[in-house]
Amino acid sequence: MMKEIKIFSPATVANVSCGFDVLGFCLDGIGDEIIVRKVDKKGIYISKIEGYDLPFEADKNVAGVSALALLKEANPDCGFEIEIYKHIKPGSGIGSSSASASGSVFAINELLGKPFNKTQLTYFAMQGEKLASQSEHADNVAPGIFGGFTLVKSLQPLEILEIPTPNDLYATIIHPQIEIKTSESRAMLPKEIPMQDAIKQWANVGSLIHALHTSNYELISRSLQDVIVEPYRSKLIPFYNEVKNQSINSGALGCGISGSGPSVFALSKGIETAKKVASAMINVYSETNIGFETYVSKINVEGIRILNR
Ligand code: HSE
Repeated sequence: MMKEIKIFSPATVANVSCGFDVLGFCLDGIGDEIIVRKVDKKGIYISKIEGYDLPFEADKNVAGVSALALLKEANPDCGFEIEIYKHIKPGSGIGSSSASASGSVFAINELLGKPFNKTQLTYFAMQGEKLASQSEHADNVAPGIFGGFTLVKSLQPLEILEIPTPNDLYATIIHPQIEIKTSESRAMLPKEIPMQDAIKQWANVGSLIHALHTSNYELISRSLQDVIVEPYRSKLIPFYNEVKNQSINSGALGCGISGSGPSVFALSKGIETAKKVASAMINVYSETNIGFETYVSKINVEGIRILNR
């Protein structure tokens, strides 16, 4: 049986405009690399973290907390050492904590001979995600573990639905180099919402799911609307309206806040349009003094990938 595994755990986009806390999709090309190896001593030991300054204590690190949740259930006769090579900046809005959380449990599950299914892995990863955002949600962890688009049907019991990905769908991301803490951007949201807004929002979620099932790009475009969360959170992202308007003028199907921000995502039909959208986003931020990164990515239908097969 394998003693060591190296995996790529991709970044993800949660919410996808109208699907606050329930919808998400998986990116490609940007993600963390994680090496996990079996050790004799029971427990979780984080031996290396490169890229960002994060805690090494297992019970204070999202990857460690997720792994401990899995171990509690599996109770194996060994422990695991984890090395994390972080490429996703914490607080970026593209699932930095989720990538570490889901990557560690995916890797340990492989080393144990896959005793757990994807829904169970999502549950363990959520325990780490909870540490980072101080609330329970699976919309960032599920797309990494399942790949493609996922919908969190319920948390108790945990039920994840896999939604088909149209072939020609690409994401463009701009990550302005400011930090927004998920816990803070959740705290600013209203506790109650007007019925009229709720009606618009669930109509959009339903039509977006239908559009993804039928590869109806025009309907995807008309469904990527968020009347509930975006009006609050967009105020935290400098030049948000300019980025959104320019992206849509450049041909994007839609544009919204990635997770709790500050990253902004757009979806486009075809890679050429997605690249034009990236240029439009770059133009907006080039005229400011805020640093930024951009990514163009196909929707990653595979999810977490094993690198040392
Ligand atoms: N659904 C979550 C939020 C994703 O928007 O707060 C970020 O973890």
